[in-house]
Amino acid sequence: MNNHACVTGWGMYVPERVLTNQELEKLVDTSDSWIIERTGIRERRVVADHETASTMATEAARQALDRAGLEAKDIDLIIVATVSPDNYYPSCGCQVQDTLGAKRAAAFDLGAGCSGFLYALSTATQFIKTGAYRNAVVIGAEAFTRTLNWEDRGTCVLFGDGAGALVLQACQEPFGLRSFLLGADGSGGKFLYLRNLCARPGDWPENNRPQMYMDGPEVFKFAVGSMVNTAREAIKMAGLSLSDIDLIIPHQANYRIISSMTRFLKIPEDRVVINIDRYGNTVSASIPVALCEAIRDGRVKDGDNLVLVSFGTGFTWAGLVLKWGVPAEVGKRSLSQAGASRGDGQGGVK
Ligand code: COA
Repeated sequence: MNNHACVTGWGMYVPERVLTNQELEKLVDTSDSWIIERTGIRERRVVADHETASTMATEAARQALDRAGLEAKDIDLIIVATVSPDNYYPSCGCQVQDTLGAKRAAAFDLGAGCSGFLYALSTATQFIKTGAYRNAVVIGAEAFTRTLNWEDRGTCVLFGDGAGALVLQACQEPFGLRSFLLGADGSGGKFLYLRNLCARPGDWPENNRPQMYMDGPEVFKFAVGSMVNTAREAIKMAGLSLSDIDLIIPHQANYRIISSMTRFLKIPEDRVVINIDRYGNTVSASIPVALCEAIRDGRVKDGDNLVLVSFGTGFTWAGLVLKWGVPAEVGKRSLSQAGASRGDGQGGVK
């Protein structure tokens, strides 16, 4: 029986519209220098009227399928990690399934905030490991800026939109997840939330317009320890040590969080993928987008051990070790043939 799930395709999409810190200076009482110093963010992408989480998810999935050499009819499972879906229902997963024409695929959304993509990757892997499914598409997609209060300088400067997708396929060789660790502590829910209209009426947001609430310093305190412990534990569970890890791809929430994690783990920053300066925090899209860029930049090689690690609303956390490589039995393309030559969904894909 095939009992591993390797990554055979990847894709990303970010909106064309770039919102710079200088533009934000005109909206709220902030400054380019404050945002860079406190967060590392210089600019972020923001959805245009025609874009939603499901449209971006579909474009990222199309690229990933193309790279894997799969057609929509081959897909057994689609999971979209998102907390900014187009609808309460139907799910983004169903919208992607329909637009792609993936007629055989089961489809659903998964909400675990910024940990959503790693929760989804771990979930899809289990379906493949049990032999239930052979081909899965896992997507992180967010039109998160639509939830922001553009008058709240404490939050509106931090986030951006985008999507990233991976194709997972059953294989015999031991590629794919070597370990995963998922966790939750719901007592942290009060520090970062977005009520919806099905909440008790007394809890509805002002004007009935959903808007996020965040206690930044409390989230920050949780984030650093969580990222460090989760990364360490996931590495241990894989039977590896930090020196075996080629690249760490952390959730991109704040450069200071990433750099504290790097210091605690005592790893050089050149073994960490950082792109928060260009995208801000894209929630569940942040890790797949960072992974796609790392591949494009030639930073991921066959046989590498990658650590993907995140924290998010809930609180939730997730970490995993991913052995990178496409076995000959399933892979139509090797890593060296793919990547840099394509546009990688940098905006405007209609
Ligand atoms: N521009 C200028 N000043 C700002 C500002 C902005 N955009 N946002 C907040 N400030 C001000 C505050 O009002 C405060 O002013 P005061 O001292 O006069 O009251 C001061 O800066 C410090 O605020 P504080 O919230 O303590 O700053 P911080 O150093 O903790 O940075 C965050 C704020 C939000 C950047 C930081 O807490 C953070 O990144 N937290 C984690 C958030 C996160 O990861 N969320 C997503 C989870 S997946």
